[in-house]
Amino acid sequence: MRSGFLKLAASNPSVLADRAAFGVIDKVRMVYPQRAGSPPVVAIDEASFSFRDGEFVSLLGPSGCGKTTLLRIVAGLVDKTAGSVQVGGHEVTGPRRDFGFVFQSLNLLPWRSVLKNVLLPMEISGRCDHAAVRRAEELLDLVGLSGFGKSRPHQLSGGMQQRVALCRALIHKPDLLLMDEPFGALDELTRMEMHDLLLKIRAETKTSVIFVTHSISEAVYLSDQVVIFSKRPARIVEHLDVPLPYPRDVHVRYTPEFTQLERQASEALGVFK
Ligand SMILES: Nc1ncnc2c1ncn2[C@@H]1O[C@H](COP(=O)(O)OP(=O)(O)OP(=O)(O)O)[C@@H](O)[C@H]1O
Ligand SMILES: [Mg+2]
Repeated sequence: MRSGFLKLAASNPSVLADRAAFGVIDKVRMVYPQRAGSPPVVAIDEASFSFRDGEFVSLLGPSGCGKTTLLRIVAGLVDKTAGSVQVGGHEVTGPRRDFGFVFQSLNLLPWRSVLKNVLLPMEISGRCDHAAVRRAEELLDLVGLSGFGKSRPHQLSGGMQQRVALCRALIHKPDLLLMDEPFGALDELTRMEMHDLLLKIRAETKTSVIFVTHSISEAVYLSDQVVIFSKRPARIVEHLDVPLPYPRDVHVRYTPEFTQLERQASEALGVFK
């Protein structure tokens, strides 16, 4: 458990710097300003956590607690009110090329083919060469969509579209993949398939992942570390290390260790009040 470490880190920021961290989120606070008669909203009170290169971190908390806000701050898409975010030794001051994103609304372009959707980030950055097309095809193959490159998004199921969005996020080999409840709209079985696919991709690409979810079992199944938030304004109430070895498969979901971790997360969320 990291709670002790983080308490120490809060009083001595150099502790965060000493640790072999790839990402350091330090005392981030977010207040949305007053608007049209409504008072300012404190979305994040003060949030600190860190992660190593290649680590899988989930942000788990109730609806409206500020998870998306924090993810967008880490992504450099929203200006924070206070605190700092460093990834790969550099302060995040805006969207970065070394990040990939998958949001709940996939934003696939309906008039473009699957392959061209995957290639979009490369086109935007002027790097859409033969190597990029080959990589897009390899990624589609990896997620079981070879043969669908010429299809349009509407010809695919929700789970298949989700896999296209994942390929698009990975096409430029990001060092950090940021995912906001990406599987929320999928049925249970498809969702479990996507979990295994994501773990496989993560093992192959070695990318770090920050994954927002309100599902306790999803967070435990996927993560090295689960950062658990209270209700709004979001405070971190627990840092849960998940010592279950990778590769993980469906069997781990039915072990006493898994159940115990789910219980710990539930307790932190206040389920047993
Ligand atoms: N652009 C904005 N302007 C003002 N308030 C906002 C804005 N975006 C979010 N909020 C408020 O900040 C709080 C946190 O919102 P956020 O979307 O980060 O929560 P969340 O944990 O992602 O919720 P959910 O699980 O429902 O997606 C909410 O009270 C929300 O109303
Ligand atoms: Mg959200």
